[in-house]
Amino acid sequence: MEFINYEVEDMVGVITINRPKALNALNSQVLDELNETLDSVDVNTVRALVLTGAGEKSFVAGADIGEMSTLSKAEGETFGKKGNDVFRKLETFHIPVIAAVNGFALGGGCEISMSCDIRICSENAIFGQPEVGLGITPGFGGTQRLARIVGVGMAKQMIYTARNIKADEAFRIGLVNAVYPLEELIPAAKKLAATIAKNAPIAVRNCKKAINDGLQVNMDEAIVIEEKLFGDCFETEDQRAGMGNFLEKDKEKKLKVVPFQNK
Ligand code: CAA
Repeated sequence: MEFINYEVEDMVGVITINRPKALNALNSQVLDELNETLDSVDVNTVRALVLTGAGEKSFVAGADIGEMSTLSKAEGETFGKKGNDVFRKLETFHIPVIAAVNGFALGGGCEISMSCDIRICSENAIFGQPEVGLGITPGFGGTQRLARIVGVGMAKQMIYTARNIKADEAFRIGLVNAVYPLEELIPAAKKLAATIAKNAPIAVRNCKKAINDGLQVNMDEAIVIEEKLFGDCFETEDQRAGMGNFLEKDKEKKLKVVPFQNK
């Protein structure tokens, strides 16, 4: 891989988008490599992912403007689909993904962070959807996910004005869950991932699916989704061990590592 680094420490995988010359902008090759990296993650052993950008200045400065500058309408649509497919894979990935936003998260950078389950950022982070200033719409999910995360009014204001916001404002509007000094960001992201990784993997995976799928339907259908995923946890080793430990008052016992059962 030229532009993606992937490392695993204990049960946490760290994916780093590494194209510093272009502030980690997403060209087709970066998107392809990210797609391949996600396919290569061993979800039997890795229980949470951290996604970040290389360097101290930029998480991801957007889709590659040079590559997009000469596209036809049809090619533009295809490029949008390429980004959307990878981001959707990230959003629906079996295990939780934490975006550790270490600087610019503009356009496709803001959009990829919104495909992750949780966003935290450094104090120097800048978020924005500058696309209308470039003559295009946000095309990797920004017109859809921003409104779902920060509300319609704020999303429309950010997108129509193309105004960037700093970390403290991103925190205020709920785009990120926490802001850290830059040097503390990755340790904080890994700690958060490790906390998730200690919990029962099938239960965590089912929570992600229940929340994601439930948000797409009405409440009557949503609670049925929850019931199925709740029921799915029973008879697993983790459910037996987790409840058994409680009843035996042995809270120190670690939950067993249960391989994912892809259904
Ligand atoms: N695409 C391609 N190259 C980019 C890039 C991008 N999105 N962002 C930065 N770069 C490149 C620059 O061209 C520059 O390359 P050279 O050194 O070869 O000239 C290098 O990265 C460093 O950038 P700057 O010199 O501009 O750095 P700066 O500190 O002065 O400014 C910045 C930083 C404010 C982030 C500025 O680079 C910038 O505005 N970048 C573009 C941000 C943007 O508009 N992103 C949205 C893209 S559209 C999109 O993402 C569509 C979509 O929804 C799918």
